[in-house]
Amino acid sequence: MAHESILVVEDDASMGFFLSEAMRKEGYGVDVVASGEEALERIAQDRFNLVILDLRLPSMDGMEVLANIKVTNPELVVIMITAHGSKDTAIEAIRKGAYDYFTKPFDINEMRVVVKRALERGRLQDELRQLKETVEKRRGFYKIVGKSKGMRDVFDLAETVFYNDVTVLITGESGTGKELIAEAIHYNSPRRAKPFVKLNCVAIPETLLESELFGYEKGAFTGATRQKLGKFELADHGTLLLDEIGDMSLATQAKLLRVLQEREVERVGGVKPVKVDVRIIASTNQDLAQLVKAQRFRDDLYFRLNVLPIHIPPLRNRGEDIPLLVEHFINLSNTQFHKDIERFSDDVMDLLINYSWPGNVRELENVVQRAVILSKEPVIQEWSLPPEIRGQRGEAFFDMEKLKRDLSLNEKVEIIVSEVEKKLIVQALDEVDWKREKAASLLGISLKTLYNKMKRYELLEQSS
Ligand SMILES: Nc1ncnc2c1ncn2[C@@H]1O[C@H](COP(=O)(O)OP(=O)(O)OP(=O)(O)O)[C@@H](O)[C@H]1O
Ligand SMILES: [Mg+2]
Repeated sequence: MAHESILVVEDDASMGFFLSEAMRKEGYGVDVVASGEEALERIAQDRFNLVILDLRLPSMDGMEVLANIKVTNPELVVIMITAHGSKDTAIEAIRKGAYDYFTKPFDINEMRVVVKRALERGRLQDELRQLKETVEKRRGFYKIVGKSKGMRDVFDLAETVFYNDVTVLITGESGTGKELIAEAIHYNSPRRAKPFVKLNCVAIPETLLESELFGYEKGAFTGATRQKLGKFELADHGTLLLDEIGDMSLATQAKLLRVLQEREVERVGGVKPVKVDVRIIASTNQDLAQLVKAQRFRDDLYFRLNVLPIHIPPLRNRGEDIPLLVEHFINLSNTQFHKDIERFSDDVMDLLINYSWPGNVRELENVVQRAVILSKEPVIQEWSLPPEIRGQRGEAFFDMEKLKRDLSLNEKVEIIVSEVEKKLIVQALDEVDWKREKAASLLGISLKTLYNKMKRYELLEQSS
């Protein structure tokens, strides 16, 4: 096993030396820094298993360092050293997430025992977390919700590649569930016990992308202080998801193509290629064929990726999935936020079904989450929706069912005009508390005309 490393944060040089020697004797790797700022810097750079942190430090004090660590590396074990007689501070430190504390002067043997125990626990927690992640992800693919024809086609296609390694190209607008499908394919395939590695090709600057993909050798360039494995090697025997592949530069595309053909990678600065066995899934919200035409994507790479294309339709084209998804997200949010929401009111559900969902399932997920958090009653009402969805009702005044009937254009226009007229009259009436006289003058028509129109639009019984 790789030996575990400890960071000692102690401004008192002799104390720092004493601690680091004691820990080194136990077989741990030890680094000592003398300030909180340095400590945070080191923690951001390297992976430590444990931090021994003095409370009293120049400028940034130990408590602040602890708070910082708990934000950036919540799992990192921190043992505090406090001055004699500061019990309250020690308790506060524990409350803020320190594993244990020692008061100066302390018994180094006790410290040894506690460090050993803490590291053991850290290891266990790591394992548990990994296990949980796998289980959750595995359960994840049962949680892809959808019964529309569009989604059933997607499931059927995905199933055909569970047991063979063909390259899959998943396309679809942002938020349609591309990553979810990619995960499902991996966790249903014989590769499931091996890594599922993702690389988002947009988020990474061009120069970094290559070393992310292929890795580099120590000394390959200034700053390459040690060897780094690329995603291909990290995904060996598993699956590599190349997300947003449409954004990859032509130069990197050429290198990727080579890897796909040769099944081996060359680390930057490496002398000989390394064999890799990786199933590739690429995804994009762009039209790759179009990019090929525009000469922004290599056609040979496109053909290699496009062995099995899976297109996920946008949510607006599969309204029947919406109630299911809503139910699914209510359940998830109830658990996550300790709520007990039952459902959305029927009116609200209508709004959700008729909304255009430019952000697709991700947007729906956010809307449900937000509503669950905001709602104080078990049935969610319209006010908990964001305005862009609430607002749409006003625009949905065309009765689509009527328009679908076999009518002449004039007759259709007639229908729309009357719907607009009805809406206008209701609005005017609303404005004046349904006082007919005032409404008539607002609309610039006689009371009699208003009466007739209200009769025609069945508005009479609602007014006084
Ligand atoms: N059919 C579905 N059932 C349940 N949850 C879904 C479904 N589709 C998408 N989601 C959820 O919606 C969110 C967005 O999905 P995902 O990240 O897979 O989309 P994407 O297509 O990769 O988006 P982008 O192009 O923005 O990366 C995730 O939280 C995912 O769990
Ligand atoms: Mg994605």
